[in-house]
Amino acid sequence: MTDIAVLGTGRMGGALAGRLCANGHRVTVWNRHRQRTAEAARAGAGVAASAAEAVAAADLVITMLTDGGAVEAVLFGQGAATALRPGAVLVQMSTIGPAETAAFLGRLPAGVHFVDAPVGGSVDAVAAGSLTVLAGGTTEALQRAEPVLRELGTVRRCGDVGEATRVKLVLNTAWLTALGALHDTLGTAAALGLDRQVTLELLAAGPLAGALRRANSATADFAVALAVKDLDLTYGETPDRPVVAATRRLLHDLPDQDADLATIVDLGNR
Ligand SMILES: NC(=O)c1ccc[n+]([C@@H]2O[C@H](COP(=O)([O-])OP(=O)(O)OC[C@H]3O[C@@H](n4cnc5c(N)ncnc54)[C@H](OP(=O)(O)O)[C@@H]3O)[C@@H](O)[C@H]2O)c1
Repeated sequence: MTDIAVLGTGRMGGALAGRLCANGHRVTVWNRHRQRTAEAARAGAGVAASAAEAVAAADLVITMLTDGGAVEAVLFGQGAATALRPGAVLVQMSTIGPAETAAFLGRLPAGVHFVDAPVGGSVDAVAAGSLTVLAGGTTEALQRAEPVLRELGTVRRCGDVGEATRVKLVLNTAWLTALGALHDTLGTAAALGLDRQVTLELLAAGPLAGALRRANSATADFAVALAVKDLDLTYGETPDRPVVAATRRLLHDLPDQDADLATIVDLGNR
């Protein structure tokens, strides 16, 4: 059993806290809007009054927040970083940019270990323990974090801090632009008058099969706005990517930015 703090009980953080409670860990959560901790509390987590209080006794602290600004606010604005125990490992799982990851590492108190561990997979993968956890850090930090991370899915070591963050941006570029391609492919099929069902069956055996599986998921939950944020991160690192820019525009223009990403194509499963 490990003492774990989860900072941020949104879609992913709430699911993570629930899984870690079910696995027998002592879990303490904190969330900016306290009402969003109710599910984690029902799963057995303690609810702290502040981020600093949540991490004070933790061996392992997970941040699962919207973006780099939110991580900054919680770690340094709310005082969580200075409250970390020496020897604790901070596992930063939110999808943020490489410069932000490097900056956070440089500002942590001495004696605190840091792993950047963005994930592939949504809330359903958390519940099933089938996330892909991309992990970067020193050998010691990774060794400390890995027993817990393995309970969430497959851990893929990526090298030093920052490497996992970069890998995540590359993987996001692949699957988000694939969803953009699926959007246009289905639009083309409709314009040519093809039967929808036949089109979907043929696409399931082709290069967009992964994107189609994701679009068909009724249990994943990843807000469109966060996908836009992720493509902004990619674009910030490497501008002049026309397909990334077009996909970003497509996502940005969707009317419901809080809906799951699958709404980029309407397969009637939501
Ligand atoms: N959902 C997915 O399928 C998925 C998959 C892979 C990776 N990710 C990544 O995981 C991260 C979390 O995603 P999510 O889907 O769980 O998002 P979410 O449901 O929108 O939750 C966001 C969390 O961040 C908190 N937050 C935002 N701004 C804050 C601030 N300034 N100060 C303190 N807390 C703040 C929110 O607190 P409040 O509740 O108080 O607003 C909430 O706890 C993101 O980086 C996302 O890109 C998500």
